[in-house]
Amino acid sequence: MALSPALFAVLVLLTLSNIGSVYAVPQNVTIDDTEGDELTGHHFLYLPAEAWTAGQNCTTCAAQPEQSLAFDGTWHDSTNPLDPFVVTNATVTFTGSALYVYCITTNDLQLGNVDMTFYIDGEVVGHYVDTSQSPDAQPFDYNTLVFHNNSLPLDNHTFTLANGQTSMEKSIVLLDFIRYT
Ligand SMILES: *[C@@H]1O[C@H](CO)[C@@H](O)[C@H](O)[C@H]1NC(C)=O
Ligand SMILES: *[C@@H]1O[C@H](CO)[C@@H](O)[C@H](O)[C@H]1NC(C)=O
Ligand SMILES: *[C@@H]1O[C@H](CO)[C@@H](O)[C@H](O)[C@H]1NC(C)=O
Ligand SMILES: *[C@@H]1O[C@H](CO)[C@@H](O)[C@H](O)[C@H]1NC(C)=O
Ligand SMILES: *[C@@H]1O[C@H](CO)[C@@H](O)[C@H](O)[C@H]1NC(C)=O
Repeated sequence: MALSPALFAVLVLLTLSNIGSVYAVPQNVTIDDTEGDELTGHHFLYLPAEAWTAGQNCTTCAAQPEQSLAFDGTWHDSTNPLDPFVVTNATVTFTGSALYVYCITTNDLQLGNVDMTFYIDGEVVGHYVDTSQSPDAQPFDYNTLVFHNNSLPLDNHTFTLANGQTSMEKSIVLLDFIRYT
């Protein structure tokens, strides 16, 4: 059965308008600390590699949050190796116009300070620092939005989370996931 030219034109228009809407409607995409980018498959690069651990598999890690409360049941744990002190970091690339970064944060100074510095495209764009002991608080806060910016130029970007840069003291990061638009 041959398509009539009119039907063919309608099909082409429908296809084009669908393609158009894919690009026009902003969508959030998640990059899990372990599973990577649900769209592109990009994974975080953790440096130095030996200073990061898949937290949900780590029986020797000091921080033992509730696995069921972590996104996808996974997180990456890094505490600065103190001697010598090293800033540890996690880097990933994405194409988007907004970025939201979620960590599990601790309220227990024995685990370390919360001391994060954020970079986009090599520039420092923010900090999240909490060096106060909160004895009455629960040991962990889940889904903590530690950084966001929803007015980035729509382009390729490189995001880095660095641990321990402002205090140069023992500090801990439990990176759960990021989301970009
Ligand atoms: C993406 O997620 C953020 C925070 O999780 C939310 O504020 C924003 O509205 C979402 N954007 C879209 C396009 O769904
Ligand atoms: C880590 O834990 C996840 C789920 O909890 C499991 O699927 C995975 O196989 C474990 N990885 C290692 C290296 O043990
Ligand atoms: C990330 O860590 C690596 C290895 O420690 C270091 O060479 C690099 O300069 C760090 N980058 C940032 C932005 O902190
Ligand atoms: C978000 O990033 C843009 C581009 O780098 C910058 O101009 C803007 O000030 C940032 N917004 C916030 C709230 O940090
Ligand atoms: C962004 O990166 C992708 C590959 O990851 C590339 O195909 C594309 O051309 C880049 N866009 C810009 C504006 O650099």
